[in-house]
Amino acid sequence: MPEIKSILITGASSGIGAALASAYAKPGIFLALTGRSSTRLKQIAQECKANGAKVVTKTIDVREQKSLRVWIEKQDTIVPFDLVIANAGISNGGKEKSEEFDREIFAVNLFGVLNTVYPAIDLMKSRKKGQIAIMSSMAGLYGFPRSPAYSSSKAAVKAFGESMRNRLRPFRIKVSVICPGFIKTPLTDTNEYKMPFLTTTAKAVQIIQRGLAKNKGIIAFPWQMNLFMWILRVLPASWSERIARFVK
Ligand SMILES: NC(=O)c1ccc[n+]([C@@H]2O[C@H](COP(=O)([O-])OP(=O)(O)OC[C@H]3O[C@@H](n4cnc5c(N)ncnc54)[C@H](OP(=O)(O)O)[C@@H]3O)[C@@H](O)[C@H]2O)c1
Repeated sequence: MPEIKSILITGASSGIGAALASAYAKPGIFLALTGRSSTRLKQIAQECKANGAKVVTKTIDVREQKSLRVWIEKQDTIVPFDLVIANAGISNGGKEKSEEFDREIFAVNLFGVLNTVYPAIDLMKSRKKGQIAIMSSMAGLYGFPRSPAYSSSKAAVKAFGESMRNRLRPFRIKVSVICPGFIKTPLTDTNEYKMPFLTTTAKAVQIIQRGLAKNKGIIAFPWQMNLFMWILRVLPASWSERIARFVK
C-alpha cells in the first residue's frame, strides 16, 4: 500500500469529514479541507496543524462546479492528491420539506460529489494513481418514505462509485463507496426518530480508514444495519414495503 501524503476532504467543517481530517492529520500529510463554515473549518485546521499536518482550507459550496474544479486543480499542484473524499452532504432530517429542498439534496449529495470527483479523476488519470472515496449511506440501499430525495441521492452516488471502480481500474485509480448507518453528528442530531445502532464518529472513522487502506469497494457498517438492508432487498417487494412503512 503506497503511503498517503495528500488528501482532499469536502464537508470537513463538521461531523464525519472533520473527524476524518483529524484522524489523517500527522506530520508529512497535506490536507485540503473544504466546507461552508469558515469558523469551523479554521478550528478543524488548527487541530490538524497541531497534529503536524500541513493544511489549507477553503469555504466553497460543492454546488459551484467551476470554482471547485479551479481550487482542486490549484491544490493538487502543491502536493498531488493521493486520496479524495467526497463527503459533503445534507439531509431532510426525516421531515417532509419542500420540492425545492429535495432538489437541493440532489444538488449537494449527487452533483456536489460529481463536482468533486471529476476534477480529481482527470488529475489522477494523467499520473495513473490515486484513490477516491464517495460518501453514500445505508439510506441509499433501500428507499424509505421519510427520505425519498436523500435515499435516492445516496443510491445514485453508490451506483456511480461502483461503476467508476471498474471503469478506473485500468488507470490504477481506486474507488470506494462508504455506506454508513447512523453516526452521531450535527446531521443526525436533528433527527426526531429512533436511530438504531447509532455509532460514534471515532468508531466510524476507524472503520472508514481501515476500509480505504484495504481498498474495499463498499465500506458498509454497522453490520447489523447492513444485514437489515440486505434482508429488505432480498425479500419479496410486498414484504419489504410493509416493513419500510413501519420505519417512520
Ligand atoms: N451522520 C450519519 O448518520 C450519516 C450516515 C450516512 C451518511 N452520512 C453522510 O456523511 C456525510 C457527512 O455527514 P455528517 O453526518 O458528518 O453531517 P454534518 O456534520 O452535517 O456535516 C456535513 C458537512 O457537509 C458540508 N456541506 C453541506 N452542504 C454543503 C455544500 N453545499 N457545500 C459544501 N459543503 C457542504 C457541511 O459544511 P458546513 O457545516 O460548513 O455547512 C459539513 O462540513 C454526508 O454526505 C452524509 O449524508 C452521514
